[in-house]
Amino acid sequence: MPKVRGRSLRVLFSVEAIAQRNIELAGEIAASGYRDLLVVSILKGSFVFAADLIRALHGAGLAPEVEFISLSSYRTGTTSTGKVKLIRDVESDVAGRDVLIIDDILESGRTIAFAKKLMHRRGARKVAVAVMLDKPGKLAQPLKAEHVGFVCPDLFVVGYGMDVAHAFRELPYVAVVEDKPPRSGRAGVRGSRARIRDGKPRRGVPGSRRESRGRAGYRSRREP
Ligand code: IMP
Ligand code: MG
Repeated sequence: MPKVRGRSLRVLFSVEAIAQRNIELAGEIAASGYRDLLVVSILKGSFVFAADLIRALHGAGLAPEVEFISLSSYRTGTTSTGKVKLIRDVESDVAGRDVLIIDDILESGRTIAFAKKLMHRRGARKVAVAVMLDKPGKLAQPLKAEHVGFVCPDLFVVGYGMDVAHAFRELPYVAVVEDKPPRSGRAGVRGSRARIRDGKPRRGVPGSRRESRGRAGYRSRREP
């Protein structure tokens, strides 16, 4: 089990599995017949996936333009408030173009729904979605990603761009933080205060997402 920041990590999706899947996804996207393709990567969480996927797209014979949008979803504890905020917009005109939105995880679907609506409102011809991970059964509204890397169990995952309080993004694989954080000091994740509320430790069923978020020092506000 790899150890990073003094924490044991259980690898869910390995470097090799991700690399293989990206090639397959790129083939799938290339076969979908998108025209005048503009790829829009949702920052920050999707930056690693997007970097690998666009290179795989090149390998599959596509030559897309690549853009970035920065969106923030606000949460109280582990519950999404449903508010998504535009932090940084794309610079390109999307009217008449096929847009492929890339994100790390499809969970409630609010972040992607916001981005899709924005692209449609601006006159995109077609808007499709590619996500690295799909967490089924969590949707707040009907939404389907056209291209999915992996179906992910209902656990809080880190790595491959995904973070907890901006930590663990550098991992080349997707993992779950398994062990308890150190009792004091900053050896674990920044923001360890978030683990203790009103002097009481946060609760969660072992292995549940709530518990893994607590263990990893999950904060109430985070970026997609
Ligand atoms: P939603 O689909 O709008 O609920 O938000 C999905 C976003 O929440 C993703 O883009 C991630 O940034 C974040 N997110 C959801 N689940 C996880 C997780 O397990 N680890 C890290 N970030 C997550
Ligand atoms: Mg995200």
